[in-house]
Amino acid sequence: MTRKKLGHLLTGSLTEGLQMRLNSSSCLEEVKTGKFVSILGNQYVFFSLITDLELEVTNPDILLFPPEQDEKLLSDILKKRDIYAKVTLRPMLMLDKENNHMPVKTIPAHFAPVYEASAQDVALIFGDEKKSDKYFNVGVPLDMETPVCLNLEAFTERSNGIFGKSGTGKTFVTRLILAGLVKSKKAVNLVFDMHSEYGFQARKEGGGQSFVKGLKTLFGNEVAIFSLDPESTRKRGCAADVEVILNYQDIRVEDVICLQDELNLHPTALEAAYLVAIKYKKDWLKVLLDQGENIKDFAQEIGAHPESISALYRKLKRLERFPFLKRFNSGESVVDKLLNYLDKGIHVVLEFGNNTSMLCYLLVANIITRRLHDAYVAKTEKFLATQKKEDEPKKLMITIEEAHKFLNVQAARQTIFGVIAREMRKYYVSLLVVDQRPSSIDSEILSQIGTKIVALLNDEKDIQAVLTGVSNSSGLRSILATLDTKKQALVMGHAVPMPVVIKTREYDEKFYGEMGAFIKATDIKQVIEEIF
Ligand SMILES: Nc1ncnc2c1ncn2[C@@H]1O[C@H](COP(=O)(O)OP(=O)(O)OP(=O)(O)O)[C@@H](O)[C@H]1O
Ligand SMILES: [Mg+2]
Repeated sequence: MTRKKLGHLLTGSLTEGLQMRLNSSSCLEEVKTGKFVSILGNQYVFFSLITDLELEVTNPDILLFPPEQDEKLLSDILKKRDIYAKVTLRPMLMLDKENNHMPVKTIPAHFAPVYEASAQDVALIFGDEKKSDKYFNVGVPLDMETPVCLNLEAFTERSNGIFGKSGTGKTFVTRLILAGLVKSKKAVNLVFDMHSEYGFQARKEGGGQSFVKGLKTLFGNEVAIFSLDPESTRKRGCAADVEVILNYQDIRVEDVICLQDELNLHPTALEAAYLVAIKYKKDWLKVLLDQGENIKDFAQEIGAHPESISALYRKLKRLERFPFLKRFNSGESVVDKLLNYLDKGIHVVLEFGNNTSMLCYLLVANIITRRLHDAYVAKTEKFLATQKKEDEPKKLMITIEEAHKFLNVQAARQTIFGVIAREMRKYYVSLLVVDQRPSSIDSEILSQIGTKIVALLNDEKDIQAVLTGVSNSSGLRSILATLDTKKQALVMGHAVPMPVVIKTREYDEKFYGEMGAFIKATDIKQVIEEIF
């Protein structure tokens, strides 16, 4: 096999990266940041990313008398000897002669040759989807065709993050990975689907077909749709499997804590809420909202400051407007139904329909996740006691968009999402956080995130945030800032052996076909019946 040689090493260091001189025969403008190259050392091959490019001359006088456009001969001679491009490489992974992966602890010698990475290199490092179902193709390295795979087993061992500014393809990548998880059954998923983009279908920007298929449409019975707004779900042509109804008793003071910002609640109002809860337990919200004119006497009764309790009353009154929130208990709780589905290995997309306020999203996601977490703690404890294989809980991954609302410094300390992210997968629950402002997420939580898929970020603070805790991060900074505005991402962390820039796998007919091989014929029939 012939590899394309790009150049040879000049200087560099392990901490700052290596400098390569680009061959005069290589076309400079084809060498881009984020490109994947291999340096051939004596004992190891060093897989590296290009992080920077620079023009160099051997003698500064040349710059004073540059060749004219028509002086081709002079130009060619200079190119051979005196002017060249210097390319900064960041070694990310070493492979020994037996193809064992290891972290980079040494560097190749002077003048080591640098090659474009080959298809075999990529397959060797990132695994092959066809050989094991734990590998899932998420895209291809820049200017290459060989798939880069995520190791889904490693992926589901931790919480993960998908970041990038608006419109860069976060939701598409998330849907893609969820499809991989459904197909491979490496984890059961719950998606809090704020904009109804995961279940039935979603809009696609740009030309061609303007809708893409959701997970329910792709996987039929393996995915259930829970809807807070069945009417809206129906209008989009899909019947919800379960209508989500919550009641006042489901809301605890902890759930209100994360609404602090949205409701503009003062800490003293929260203290008042605790006082009500001490006295009235589960009924605290119903009792509070029933006070009306009596709110002053009520304050006295529970020993709270009248101003705080009035403020709390006024602000929580807003919750009464949610149509899915009912005063009284009505039959089987939705969380129990949800648990039933998840226990059977059925993935759940929870659609919000027309309830698109952040307030609603935060409230519902909190209530449900807190209860699920309690259930998983109990399941795990049972499993630890019996140690029977059949008692082992299935790994659950919970997807949340706008994650910084759940995981900012304040919320992360107090709410269930912070608990899940911090305790890692001790109780078989992890998060898939999707966010455009990672700098607003608590840095402690960010550092616990196993695998990050990061599309373009412009804000320096956001770039800094996603790179905290990543070794060798200085070179990655420039890569992140120079990604395309769409469909490109830097993948790094637990589920890949080395950071790599990818063009994300297209979510299209071809992809459906590749996933479709796993749909049973009976399911297809049912999907069709459900649609029409
Ligand atoms: N893998 C992909 N396959 C096909 N199209 C894609 C892919 N990734 C992105 N796109 C295109 O880019 C558009 C924007 O992607 P997406 O909606 O996922 O962005 P986003 O980062 O979630 O944005 P926002 O922050 O506004 O929610 C899509 O509508 C689609 O046209
Ligand atoms: Mg989105």
